[in-house]
Order: sequence, then structure tokens, then C-alpha cells
Amino acid sequence: MSFFSIKAAAGRKVTLFASISSLLLSHVHGQFIPEIDATYSSPPKPFSLCVNPSFIETTRFKVQLGRIANDLGVAPFTDGVSTEMAATLQNYWVNEFNWTSVQEQINKNFTMFTTVVKIDDQNYTEPIPLHFVHHRSNRSDAVPLLFLHGFPGSFLEVGRIISSLTHPPNSSVPAFHVVAPSLPGFGFTPAPMHAGLGPIEVAHAFNALMHQLSYPRYVIQGGDLGSFVLTYQAALHPESVISVLSNLWVPALTAADIARFDANETTPGETAYIRNITAYQRKGAGYLFLQSTQPLMAGHALTDSPLGFALYIFNLMQELGTFYHWSLSEIITWAMMYVIQGPYPATRTYKEFRFADQIVGTDSSGPALFVNVPVGVTQRPQDAGWGVPLDWARRIGNVTALYVHDFGGHFAAYQTPDTLLDDCWRFWGNKSASGVGKSH
Ligand SMILES: *[C@@H]1O[C@H](CO)[C@@H](O)[C@H](O)[C@H]1NC(C)=O
Ligand SMILES: *[C@@H]1O[C@H](CO)[C@@H](O)[C@H](O)[C@H]1NC(C)=O
Ligand SMILES: *[C@@H]1O[C@H](CO)[C@@H](O)[C@H](O)[C@H]1NC(C)=O
Ligand SMILES: *[C@@H]1O[C@H](CO)[C@@H](O)[C@H](O)[C@H]1NC(C)=O
Ligand SMILES: *[C@@H]1O[C@H](CO)[C@@H](O)[C@H](O)[C@H]1NC(C)=O
Ligand SMILES: *[C@@H]1O[C@H](CO)[C@@H](O)[C@H](O)[C@H]1NC(C)=O
Ligand SMILES: *[C@@H]1O[C@H](CO)[C@@H](O)[C@H](O)[C@H]1NC(C)=O
Ligand SMILES: *[C@@H]1O[C@H](CO)[C@@H](O)[C@H](O)[C@H]1NC(C)=O
Ligand SMILES: *[C@@H]1O[C@H](CO)[C@@H](O)[C@H](O)[C@H]1NC(C)=O
Repeated sequence: MSFFSIKAAAGRKVTLFASISSLLLSHVHGQFIPEIDATYSSPPKPFSLCVNPSFIETTRFKVQLGRIANDLGVAPFTDGVSTEMAATLQNYWVNEFNWTSVQEQINKNFTMFTTVVKIDDQNYTEPIPLHFVHHRSNRSDAVPLLFLHGFPGSFLEVGRIISSLTHPPNSSVPAFHVVAPSLPGFGFTPAPMHAGLGPIEVAHAFNALMHQLSYPRYVIQGGDLGSFVLTYQAALHPESVISVLSNLWVPALTAADIARFDANETTPGETAYIRNITAYQRKGAGYLFLQSTQPLMAGHALTDSPLGFALYIFNLMQELGTFYHWSLSEIITWAMMYVIQGPYPATRTYKEFRFADQIVGTDSSGPALFVNVPVGVTQRPQDAGWGVPLDWARRIGNVTALYVHDFGGHFAAYQTPDTLLDDCWRFWGNKSASGVGKSH
């Protein structure tokens, strides 16, 4: 395959050199993404995705030249993505993947905007440019809902629930105005200009966004990184955040928990939870430690290789939801949500979020913040933190509802949209649980 690639490569030299000037632009410090035609200013203005075609072609060319590691025969997804799977993805990307079609779908499926918000925070004083999806309901009783994606996802995660949230099947379930921003450095929200844009600052920025859209009171749904942002946002802005529904709720173990576990004194539920999160730390959290300690070690390689980055995130996409079949086009599309602006700042978010200190099981200082507004927690078995005991879940927030599903994984909105929708409807349809909806 490599001989063939090099031959094909010669004919593409012109394209490669043509795009070098645009690659150089990415070194300019500024709040824009060189490969897309977008500007950021308030008030919000419509955004349509249109990636520089020569960047798409250069990316395809880099994928074609990609060199794949030999997996030594280890079972797929134990060490990472197998050689065979990597070659299949490479071949598809080079010969079949149609970015134009994906881009058309994104523009058709999502009504998107850009804006700028300001926050009052000494760690980050610059205005913060944002990209976001905004779909309004036509129901007069609709509730504003902020949807927060995680890593290695993007705003695309909201795609399978958004129309049912805005236009539910009947008036007995709540309707929502949905706002789904891209985290800084993800999708089409530009990277921060410097370090310091952590979860507190992002929480302030997203609260400012909701206020800018004239939603002074709203609810939040999120998992993964989004569940950390929503925790800060609800704790810091209880006057604005009515309630939150989190699909990743992982209270840290205390030294006392671990001592009880070692002495065989934990309940079966506590034992299962401890085993689940320690197994995840042991087998699946390598990326998390790397990205939250020395992210630039991998940052250069991941930036240089679109194929390598796609294989890096595909392993993460697969391990927390083996039931789900990711199509090759989906894997590439998810990767492109990072590749277009360069994946490094997004991966570095783990350092800003201080996961090295806060990661489950290593934080002996206890929770930093307690969420007083009502919290709904929804869990699926192929996810980290599965089976959290209710009293432990309540250590970090006012958990009023715990929905436990027997099927699904980490990317609830995308992989199991029906059960996540049901959770949104029952939580925010229940006034005593969530502060909105009808009384029960
Ligand atoms: C890619 O998709 C676009 C838009 O749907 C379509 O016009 C074009 O023919 C497709 N290209 C190929 C090679 O199939
Ligand atoms: C757009 O929506 C269609 C119909 O729901 C879906 O099949 C497709 O996967 C979506 N594409 C993207 C990129 O979100
Ligand atoms: C700045 O970030 C630190 C954590 O790095 C945080 O403790 C502090 O509250 C932040 N400052 C402000 C003004 O939010
Ligand atoms: C809201 O939109 C739906 C779907 O487009 C339509 O069926 C319904 O009649 C609209 N409702 C109102 C109150 O306008
Ligand atoms: C309204 O829609 C919800 C969600 O699909 C469904 O569970 C419920 O039975 C429906 N209620 C009525 C009255 O049709
Ligand atoms: C806890 O149980 C295990 C397995 O049953 C046993 O090997 C171990 O000695 C026990 N530890 C304590 C402190 O009782
Ligand atoms: C526990 O967490 C892991 C994630 O590491 C998940 O894949 C596993 O299926 C979970 N569930 C149980 C019951 O252990
Ligand atoms: C938790 O939320 C409920 C319902 O809104 C509220 O009545 C209660 O005071 C809250 N508890 C705490 C500890 O904030
Ligand atoms: C509403 O939530 C409360 C807990 O806050 C719970 O006791 C009640 O059963 C829920 N109602 C329904 C209909 O689920």
C-alpha cells in the first residue's frame, strides 16, 4: 500500500504546497480558525460550515501517506485499534469518505451560530468566541436547555435528540429550546489564546451565552467533560441553572472508602462501584493521565497525523460502548471535528480541568464543589462510574433522581437517544425532582 500511496502522492504535490500558506496561518495568535470561514462577534450571527477544500485534500493526502503500527497480534481494543481496522479506516478515508456530503448534512441538520462572550475572571480576561447550535421549540412552555458534549465528541452528539427535545410528540412531555455549544478548542469554537480557560471559566462563558440568548433561567444536560462543566455551572450560577441531568456522575472515593473496601466492609453496591472505577483507571484511563499531565507530548503527533488522531479517539469511542457499531464515516467525521482546527487544545482541556488531581479514586481531599440545585443522574452499564450508590452520588450534589438503565454506554445522547430522551422528559416533567414541569 505504501508504494501505491507514494505514486499517487506525486500527482498531488501542487495541492500540498498550495495549502502550506494556510497551514502557517494557524500559528498566528488570534481568535479564529484558519480553515473555516467564520468570524466571532456579538450579537450571534448564523454560521455555516465551509472548510477550505485544499485543507480537506491535504488531510486526505496525509492519511494516504499514513504509516500504521503493527499490533503484534494483541486482541483489538486491548492495546488500541488493531492494524487491520486501522488499514480499513485509512483505505476508506482515502478512497470513499466524502467530506462534502458530511458538511452538507451538518449544515442541514444543525442551525448554527457564532458569538463572543465576556466573563469576569482573572484567569482569563479575553473575550471568548463560541460556536453553538441553537434550535427553538414552538411550544410556549418550552424550557431552555444547554446541552454539553465531551471528549472525544462534539456538538454532533446532540443530533439524535434535538428534534424530539424541541418538538416532542405530545404536550404531556416537556419541550425545550436547545443550545449546544462547542467547548473551547472543540468543533468550531476557537482554542483559548493561552492557558487558564478551565472548567470555572467555561462555566462562566456558557452561562454568559445563555444570558446573551435571553435565557436567564435554564437547565443543563451533559456527560463526560460536559458533566464537569455543568457541575461548576450549577454550583457557581444557581440563580440561573434550575437543575441538571448528568450522564456521568463519578464521586471520588475517599481514604475512608478505600479503607472500608480493604477491610471488606463495603456494601455490595459500594464494592461494585469501586471495582468499576478502579478497573477503568487501570485499563482505560491512560489517555486521561497523559492529557492532564504533559498533553503536548502527544499533542504534536496527534496534530500531525489525522489518521493517528482518528485511531486514538476511535479506541476511546469503542471501549465505553462495545454494543455500538461505529461506521467508518462516523469515526472520521468525529475526528474531523478536532482535525479541522487541530486537536491539541481540545486534548489539553484535561489539564485545565485538573483531572490529574480530581480523577476518580485519587482525590482524598473530597469534592471541590457541591451542587445545591436539583441533580438528576442517569447511568448506563458500559460507562465509567456505573452503579454509584445513591448516598455516594449525593456527596457531590443534591441528587433527586437516579435513573439506572440496563443497556448503553458513555455517549448516551448519541448511542441511546431514546432512553436519554425519556430521562429528559421524566426529570424535567417532574416539578418536585427538577424544579420544572408539572407537580408530582
Ligand atoms: C460527495 O457528496 C457530494 C454532495 O452530496 C456529491 O455532490 C458528490 O457527488 C459526492 N462525491 C462523490 C465522489 O461521490
Ligand atoms: C443528519 O441527519 C440525518 C437524519 O437524521 C442523519 O442520518 C445523519 O447521520 C445526520 N448527519 C450528521 C452529520 O449529523
Ligand atoms: C482561577 O483558576 C483557579 C484554578 O486554577 C481557581 O481556583 C480560581 O478560582 C480561578 N479564579 C477565578 C477568579 O475564577
Ligand atoms: C410546532 O411545530 C410542529 C412541527 O413542525 C407542528 O406540527 C405544530 O403544529 C407546531 N405547534 C405550534 C403550537 O405552532
Ligand atoms: C406522549 O409522548 C410520550 C413520549 O413519547 C409518551 O411516553 C406518552 O405516552 C405520550 N402521551 C400521550 C398522552 O400520548
Ligand atoms: C477480605 O476478603 C478477602 C476475600 O474473601 C480475604 O482474602 C481478605 O483476607 C479479607 N480481608 C480482610 C481485611 O478481612
Ligand atoms: C464498569 O465500567 C467499565 C468502564 O471501564 C464498563 O465498560 C463496564 O462494563 C462497567 N460495568 C460493570 C458492570 O462493571
Ligand atoms: C435539593 O433540591 C430540593 C428541590 O429543589 C430542595 O427542596 C432542597 O432544599 C435541595 N437540597 C439542598 C441540600 O440544597
Ligand atoms: C418525581 O420525583 C420525586 C422525587 O423528587 C419522586 O418521589 C416521584 O416519584 C417522581 N414522580 C414521578 C411521577 O416519577
